[in-house]
Amino acid sequence: MALQLGDEAPDFEAETTDGTIRFHEWLGDSWGVLFSHPKDFTPVCTTELGYTAKLKPDFDRRNVKVIGLSVDTVADHNEWAKDIEETQGQEVNFPMIGDPDKKVAELYGMIHPKSLDSLTVRSVFIIGPDKKIKLTITYPASTGRNFDEILRVIDSLQLTANYQVSTPVNWVYGGDVVIAPSIPDEEAKVKFPKGFNTLKPYLRLTPQPNK
Ligand code: BEZ
Repeated sequence: MALQLGDEAPDFEAETTDGTIRFHEWLGDSWGVLFSHPKDFTPVCTTELGYTAKLKPDFDRRNVKVIGLSVDTVADHNEWAKDIEETQGQEVNFPMIGDPDKKVAELYGMIHPKSLDSLTVRSVFIIGPDKKIKLTITYPASTGRNFDEILRVIDSLQLTANYQVSTPVNWVYGGDVVIAPSIPDEEAKVKFPKGFNTLKPYLRLTPQPNK
């Protein structure tokens, strides 16, 4: 069965462009983003990796470690990294897993043969400090992902891990959030001292509590 939200992210040992890692040990107490791309030396993947590398300060600020994967070798990753730097103007500053025997790709269900024959599709797993899977997304090879959206989701996950709120449609950091319907009004007044706007008893908006 495919990995589901709340499952423990499977641990593995793998060769990467930063040497051999054990995944859980490498994650430590950080959040993690493990993402696959279909193939080295391909156009969309080149843009994705360059852009993700540019976001490193944003990931660092959120205590998130990023790691990429494809079924290419580490030697290919290292060679391709030169093209990424040349064309995207950014050095690849996170490790890339070489997975030519597809061990990790199969462990995480990153190969969808009816979509792309024996290569990884564009999977993303966001993993919490508890090593549990918090988000999965899967894009086809023809569509590059929006890594700003991945940062946005991390902001939501980190906020909702600490406060009894959820984030509404198209929320971005700093926007109003939704108070959990399970919290009675009297308790909400104490927990959310900035106040809240009741549109319906189940739909109460309050300013982002940690701002
Ligand atoms: C790309 O990155 O452009 C790509 C890779 C594999 C299949 C299709 C597109």
